[in-house]
Amino acid sequence: MSEQVRIDAVGRQGDGIASTPQGRVHVAYTLPGELVEIAREGDRGTLLHIIEPSAERIAQRCKHFGECGGCALEHWAAEPYLAWKRSLVAEALAREGVSAEVAQTMPAYGAGRIRAVFHSGRGAKKEAVGFAKRRSHEIVDLDECPVLAPLLEAALPLARQLAKILLSTGKPIDLHVTVAERGLDIDIRGPGKLPKPIESRVVSFAAEKKVLRISLHGEPLAQLMPPTHLIGSVRVTLPPAPFLQATAEGERVLAEKVMQAAEGAKFAADLFSGIGTFALRLASKMKVSAFDNHEPSIAALQAAAKSPGLKPVTASVRDLFRWPLVADELKKIDLVVLDPPRVGAEAQTRELAKSKVKKVAYVSCDADTFARDAKTLVDGGFKLVAVTPVDQFQYSPHIELVGVFKR
Ligand SMILES: C[S@@+](CC[C@H](N)C(=O)[O-])C[C@H]1O[C@@H](n2cnc3c(N)ncnc32)[C@H](O)[C@@H]1O
Repeated sequence: MSEQVRIDAVGRQGDGIASTPQGRVHVAYTLPGELVEIAREGDRGTLLHIIEPSAERIAQRCKHFGECGGCALEHWAAEPYLAWKRSLVAEALAREGVSAEVAQTMPAYGAGRIRAVFHSGRGAKKEAVGFAKRRSHEIVDLDECPVLAPLLEAALPLARQLAKILLSTGKPIDLHVTVAERGLDIDIRGPGKLPKPIESRVVSFAAEKKVLRISLHGEPLAQLMPPTHLIGSVRVTLPPAPFLQATAEGERVLAEKVMQAAEGAKFAADLFSGIGTFALRLASKMKVSAFDNHEPSIAALQAAAKSPGLKPVTASVRDLFRWPLVADELKKIDLVVLDPPRVGAEAQTRELAKSKVKKVAYVSCDADTFARDAKTLVDGGFKLVAVTPVDQFQYSPHIELVGVFKR
């Protein structure tokens, strides 16, 4: 049976939320103020019809919107959408009792996303290649995705051909596709060791399609030339399936904020450094010690750190969740850059709170864990002096940010 509800707000996952006598109900693809007809199942409602649309509703950009789980908010005008992203950060900080001025959200889409994971071999339609549907393992067979960089969007037919070769293994496939400087880098995950005939077809495919490198679970199968990525003026040879910021513009904006925070520092620690997105830029101005638990990324950073014109960089493999840098190791450091995964940097911020470090630039991809860690730093004597939300994941509920702490 259907019912009518009025949407009050957009929640943290990007769904509209209506308060009803039976409790709150989440309705995807709706906007604040809208009167909608829904089919309710528990605390979720499926949108059947928009009775009174919001003035903020805009036309969707992608034909797969509403089916593909990649985007949640293509139907919202840019201004209220960016303000909502800012509110996610401000509200997370308020929940932790951390006061700070949160700047306007900076859109950082540039030419689109430079990495994606295309799935195949799952659900009823095994040959589909794309992203998962909302709340499902079924794959939407994508033939467009406007948020991707043109080279990555153009890789969809290639991914489909490669998946076809790999699907004869009968296993689900993930293709980690990265836009490198001179072409595409693809890491295949999921099928395990390939039978020889399939491996040969993959190698021929790489040569025919001029893919820079195809690797399998991180082990190169075919390489036309090493895939590279430019960090500032330093060229880094990428490990397979590297972590890169989602868009080139996002990387530029985050790095600009980190470099501003670094002004005056002489020795920086870049924690959760990856391949050196911040470390290699900082090294144009100061000594840097970088740490990450991903050996191939640290090896790539060590090699790139030998580039001319850089101050000394040391890069070490270390699990910073289990062995965070302690106060004694941080004695000579005057700036710490943190860029942890979504779970945040709980153990490391506890050590920073006990240390004498004066400045921390915290790059985060999760407002809640950032706010938790911010509280630890503030309780340890830091002040959160600037927070800038940065939107690299257009139309999704994700938000990146840079927080600068000083004492
Ligand atoms: C959000 S990425 C940031 C990478 C880099 N700063 C950049 O911008 O490209 C998070 C990084 O944390 C690293 N990481 C994840 N868990 C870790 C751990 N327990 N200890 C150290 N590094 C870890 C990952 O390998 C990844 O490089």
